[in-house]
Amino acid sequence: MRTDKRKVALVGTGMVGMSYAYSMLNQGVCDELVLIDINRKRAEGEAMDLNHGLAFSASHMKIYAGEYRDCSDADIVVICAGVAQKPGETRLDLLKRNAAVFRSIVEPVTESGFNGIFLVATNPVDIMTRITYSLSGFNPKRVIGSGTTLDTARLRYLLGESLRVDPRNVHAYVIGEHGDSEFVPWSQAMIATKPILSLCGSGGEEDMVNREELKRIEEEVRTAAYKIIEAKQATYYGIGMSLTRITRAILGDENSVFTVSAMLRGEYGQSEVYAGVPCIINKNGIQRVLTLSLTEDEKERLDNSCNTLRESFEGIF
Ligand code: 2OP
Repeated sequence: MRTDKRKVALVGTGMVGMSYAYSMLNQGVCDELVLIDINRKRAEGEAMDLNHGLAFSASHMKIYAGEYRDCSDADIVVICAGVAQKPGETRLDLLKRNAAVFRSIVEPVTESGFNGIFLVATNPVDIMTRITYSLSGFNPKRVIGSGTTLDTARLRYLLGESLRVDPRNVHAYVIGEHGDSEFVPWSQAMIATKPILSLCGSGGEEDMVNREELKRIEEEVRTAAYKIIEAKQATYYGIGMSLTRITRAILGDENSVFTVSAMLRGEYGQSEVYAGVPCIINKNGIQRVLTLSLTEDEKERLDNSCNTLRESFEGIF
């Protein structure tokens, strides 16, 4: 049973999971954080390490290594666990192995009596979130993936830099698969309430931006993870902070908008697929999927992205 204390269970204490835990502690987002890992010793070591920072932290978080039964009264179970790709292994093989890993996680979590919200970060996140939904039998409003939340943050940062505008006043989204087929519906991108496309003028010096620059930024967002992985093998701080922000929106019942991976049930003419789209998030999970007024071309790009995701899922599950 869920109680008054804000409790989060984290499954998977690798770099992504622990970047999330570290930012949760620094931002004091919950009262209790339980770390669960197939390698119990690792989870214990991570809990010790974080607890040693409590003396310097603004929050009084209870942090400990636990078991799946500790999920019973959690508000959110965050899944960052997964296996890494082996040399020579195809993406499909990896997906199959991760699906097996998820079976060994989602079943004991639901059997614990957990009645909260699943938040999934393991890649390929849209597929893994749909697998979590299938295995849990939960209402899809309560099964959320990080989706394109981080890609949207990258986009807002890059647009802010290019246009010299505070990213908080940049309202633009990356939607679709968290991966190669993601895209920016530019017709819906705004600075405050000013459409960004209207800032692309006739090519004169007074233009704030031009279409080539927007294309460059979109490409930079799409390839950001590849660049980081090439440089440092993995990405973790950005995704950790994205997960913390989504957690805060859920626990704080904020009704904030994020491009999480959500089950589409008629929105955008799509169904039975999880994809990144803007959603209003509160204590019940997805309060509502926002349907943007996409152009025909943008609609086609979203259809393509959803088809890719559907085919991947059907290939393994
Ligand atoms: C990222 O986009 C790899 O999904 C990870 O940073």
